[in-house]
Amino acid sequence: MAIERTLSIVKPDAVGRNLIGEILRKFEAAGLRIAAGKLLRLTPERAQAFYAVHKARPFFQGLCEYMSSGAIFVSVLEGENAIARNREVMGATDPAKAAPGTIRKEFGQDIEQNAVHGSDAPETAAMEIAFFFKPDEIL
Ligand code: RTP
Ligand code: MG
Repeated sequence: MAIERTLSIVKPDAVGRNLIGEILRKFEAAGLRIAAGKLLRLTPERAQAFYAVHKARPFFQGLCEYMSSGAIFVSVLEGENAIARNREVMGATDPAKAAPGTIRKEFGQDIEQNAVHGSDAPETAAMEIAFFFKPDEIL
């Protein structure tokens, strides 16, 4: 099994409800190690750049407004199969369809305000990590 790194974001709705600790606890309990982390706020332009892959989607503008509406906590998670494991712990995009015990089931509010983001493949993980962190900020 491969040791991977993935990019995780605690989204503004969850940061605003004081859920950073609860969410990071679930990653750590699943065997993922926090290799980097910081609190920041995206400008609308930075949110558009981060979600450029979704530019043509009908939810793009709302998503970028939401993701720049408040502080986010970005982290690098490391572990065996970290990309897939993180997405298992997050649960389905729509909290109503997420499995019991997952972050989105417990803390997501709706299909947009769904508490967390996680990279979906090795290539996107590498790009997303570099979007937020310099190599010497990852330990
Ligand atoms: P993420 O990228 O945030 O980890 O989520 P994901 O892979 O499960 O979902 P994705 O399809 O990449 O969508 C990115 C984010 O856009 C918002 N969204 N809104 N209104 C809608 O129908 C809708 N669909 C997606 C969510 O915040 C989703 O996480
Ligand atoms: Mg995605």
